[in-house]
Amino acid sequence: MTAQYQVQDGVAVITLDNPPVNGLGHSTRLGIVEGMTRALDDAAVKAIVITGAGKAFSGGADIREFNTPKAMQEPTLHSVIRVLEGSSKPVVAAVHSVAMGGGLELALGCNYRVASKGAQIALPEVKLGLLPGAGGTQRLPRVIGLEAAANMIVSGTPVLSEKFAGTKLFDEIVDGDVLPAAVKFAQNVGAATGPHPKVRDLKVRHENPEGYLGFARNTVAAMAKNFPAPLKCLEAVAGSLKPFEQGLKEEREGFLFLVTTPESRALRHAFFGERAASKIPDVPEGTATRKIEKVAVIGAGTMGGGISMNFLNAGIPVTILETKQEALDRGVGIIRKNYENSAKKGKLTQEKVEQRMGLLSTTLSYDEIKDADLVIEAVFEEMGVKEIVFKKLDEVMKQGAILASNTSTLDVNKIASFTKRPQDVVGMHFFSPANVMKLLEVVRGEKTGKDVLATVMQLGKKIKKTAVVSGVCDGFIGNRMIEQYSRQAGYLLDEGALPEQVDKAIEKFGFAMGPFRMGDLAGNDIGWAIRKRRAVDKPDIQYSKTADLLCEMGRYGQKTGAGWYDYKAGDRKPYPNQQVNDMIVQHSKDLGITRRKISDEEIVERLVFALVNEGAKILEEGIASKASDIDMVYLTGYGFPLFRGGPMLYADQVGLYNVALAMKRYAKGYHGEAWQVAPLLQKLADEGKGFNG
Ligand code: 3HC
Ligand code: NAI
Repeated sequence: MTAQYQVQDGVAVITLDNPPVNGLGHSTRLGIVEGMTRALDDAAVKAIVITGAGKAFSGGADIREFNTPKAMQEPTLHSVIRVLEGSSKPVVAAVHSVAMGGGLELALGCNYRVASKGAQIALPEVKLGLLPGAGGTQRLPRVIGLEAAANMIVSGTPVLSEKFAGTKLFDEIVDGDVLPAAVKFAQNVGAATGPHPKVRDLKVRHENPEGYLGFARNTVAAMAKNFPAPLKCLEAVAGSLKPFEQGLKEEREGFLFLVTTPESRALRHAFFGERAASKIPDVPEGTATRKIEKVAVIGAGTMGGGISMNFLNAGIPVTILETKQEALDRGVGIIRKNYENSAKKGKLTQEKVEQRMGLLSTTLSYDEIKDADLVIEAVFEEMGVKEIVFKKLDEVMKQGAILASNTSTLDVNKIASFTKRPQDVVGMHFFSPANVMKLLEVVRGEKTGKDVLATVMQLGKKIKKTAVVSGVCDGFIGNRMIEQYSRQAGYLLDEGALPEQVDKAIEKFGFAMGPFRMGDLAGNDIGWAIRKRRAVDKPDIQYSKTADLLCEMGRYGQKTGAGWYDYKAGDRKPYPNQQVNDMIVQHSKDLGITRRKISDEEIVERLVFALVNEGAKILEEGIASKASDIDMVYLTGYGFPLFRGGPMLYADQVGLYNVALAMKRYAKGYHGEAWQVAPLLQKLADEGKGFNG
């Protein structure tokens, strides 16, 4: 049983004890009911306190039980709360640290609530695509009012306990340790004659509920476009104006509806995926890590500057090394400008700007970085330059320093071989802009030490990145997959589509940006350079020639004011260009292709399934250790729509049988060779399984 029971001076204390955050799993729920039974049977007990051990009152339903029969096994949270509300002795919640989701609902089922200051109070279910399913939508409005409750439940945002002073949510808010205060409170109410208050008996009052709800519905509908949960949350809260049992019934129906939606599945997948990404199968938890107190960055270009900012933001000093003073001055100038811009927008105080800049130093000499615990190389993407840098690092860096490369395409094993300490070498592939993008691909070389991996994953969390481990291959997880997507985008142009149609179709599917707008943003010349290299290294890989023709027209993208689209100064809006479209049509003619009308559905399938097929290969080769890692890469680094949960979960939701069938159809079409179904995908489809089980 994961709840403890003790009696102190006539007060029974039930302590939830289910680390890490006292999730209300089955054994904890059982423990509460059993504690209640003991307390009610014991004539010496006059009142009951419920609290949580360790670092939370309760983080809510035990998310480890989601999608298992235990989640619904009696006593459910509803049943537990019924026991609390039916108690003949007063029940006091002693809330501290965190009371979220079901944890807050449990507290609302008590007669009284005492909280310590600074506790985070939330009903965050909406973030998992759900609504609070154990009476939260009915009880919270009764204690803090309709509007405040709607705001909290629709947004899921935590609010500090002291902000509720003066509401009926808390009877007392105390500084310091809550338990003694709650026990004292319980002794007092235990001595008083009942009946003791129940939240369910309160009435929700509002001057103009219909007016408010009409406004709120419009606002929420506009904000929550692709997610059904926020509106359902609001409807459930609106139900609190009805008789309690009626509102509770509607809440239940809303919850049962949402739990089966693909959007909720996607959000829960992302929630677990984020946490699962930090767990590496053969690197046990508790693996010793190295201390990272000083960081050095080689190269003050686009990436070096952004990478440095991550560490400065986390309070870790950084020294940037360059070959020329001008490059250092330029790089540092850009970092300062970025911070000043944040300060102008009110996101950072001037004091913080100076604090962060104060942690930054620059040098032209390796001598000044030799003591760094971690060095990240972000120089030109050329093996020759990497070789010079890593040989030098091997020579000068202290023993035990981690040597990382930010390479986006080069072989990390080869880079490691330039040193006599390959176990200390790892890829840290940041995404541009590196101070903004959440994703960090941690590239595990053949010889990378487990402690190095564990250290870098831990550091990723510290600098607020979603760190995902990738094995070594061309493009790692993200870029290797995007290449297949880009190839399909090019072929679609050859066959009959125009950039605007392709972009609009995939943006309607939910991508932040279509492939051609993305190309214009990143610079079409980057892909051009890669294709030129591929033409030598891997001449078998085919591409549509349209992207090369575009670059030959000097249309590199936004940086030249013209790419697949035209751009006006100071405006990122794309305007279709007739010359580009004519070039595409002419190219089809040159290939002897009769252009056809391509449906938006085909565009989406070909782009997304191209990702899925390559993802399956990556999984099969062990480059990614689980499908959710691939999804996390796409959700945090490539603008894949969150409500679809990433390419691999999306494929599961479509059904792998259907995905494989579509691929075989495309295999008969233009450049059908790109549609060899990955063996793992076919196997799972045959077995009626998905990538995520
Ligand atoms: N159940 C079980 N484990 C949980 C949990 C929960 N509800 N919430 C978090 N954890 C686990 C995490 O998975 C993590 O485990 P790990 O160390 O093995 O990876 C550990 O607790 C620590 O989590 P964080 O790294 O997120 O730690 P923080 O201290 O930063 O945050 C927190 C703690 C604020 C509780 C945060 O984890 C959080 O927001 N959790 C989600 C809470 C939530 O969504 N609750 C609602 C659940 S749905 C519900 O209650 C339905 C009900 O209405 C019927
Ligand atoms: P960049 O050209 O903006 O910057 C490179 C910097 O390295 C320049 O300032 C240059 O002076 C410096 N440099 C070159 N040789 C050096 C040496 N021997 N010692 C010290 N400094 C040296 O390049 P960018 O875009 O920052 O890319 C750097 C690395 O990051 C490359 O490996 C690239 O593939 C990778 N990358 C780039 C991304 C992007 O979107 N730009 C995304 C992810 C990774």
